Amino acid sequence: MTRTPQAAAAQAATELRERTGVDGYDIALVMGSGWAPAADLLGSAGHELPSSDLTGFLKPAVDGHSGTIRSITDGDRDILAFLGRTHLYEGHGTDAVVHGVRTAVAAGADIVVLTNAAGGINTDYAVGSPVLISDHINMTARSPLAGATFVDLTDTYNAELRAVAREVAPDLPEGVYAAMPGPHFETPAEVRMLRALGADLVGMSTVLEAIAAREAGARVLGMSLVTNIAAGLEGANLDHQEVLATGRDSAQSVGRLLADIVARL
Ligand code: HPA
Repeated sequence: MTRTPQAAAAQAATELRERTGVDGYDIALVMGSGWAPAADLLGSAGHELPSSDLTGFLKPAVDGHSGTIRSITDGDRDILAFLGRTHLYEGHGTDAVVHGVRTAVAAGADIVVLTNAAGGINTDYAVGSPVLISDHINMTARSPLAGATFVDLTDTYNAELRAVAREVAPDLPEGVYAAMPGPHFETPAEVRMLRALGADLVGMSTVLEAIAAREAGARVLGMSLVTNIAAGLEGANLDHQEVLATGRDSAQSVGRLLADIVARL
């Protein structure tokens, strides 16, 4: 009998509990490009394991590198951090993309923090700055859900959690994140289209994970690091190495901010 994705996540969560000795997590974070060093600031690192050790995560043979899962304690809270994620453009389907989030919720996390690198469409954003995600536009034309699962996405990026983030950083801008399938960057015409549709940020991740988290009943906080100005806009630079370098340069400051926010969630 084929196992449902939810059953696979429940199995992975059981294995995770066994490996880490943590009964239930309070909060989970997915660290996107440029955000991984922030995990060091979240608390004291406990067990760390290759995600491919757990049921349902991609094997390195297929993926090259499928990421690491770190168990962190901060006072009386247990935090789960995914260092690296699976993208839709890797071609393993939507279940592979959201398996980490489903596993985290099955392991008890009822808050999921999704971070990513994004191109800035809103010209108010400076390269290197963090932006809270207020809503998304899913341009992948895919859903991690199947069947009659009519999930309400009205409050996908939870307003209360965003308010907490703004208590920490009152000037933190908010924006709408558009997810494209990738792995190619957008054309200038696509960026103009996205701007006309109301997008402030563009990237290739996050939205499917946010949908899966909502379906599983968790609250979501989303944050982008603007690593470049989107294609065709003044100052645009889509060199992948530059995107990564911006992430490295900003890692400490955005990491500190994220840690301060997470401490209050
Ligand atoms: N477009 C899509 N994804 C991205 C970008 C971009 O400009 N920058 C970082 N991730």
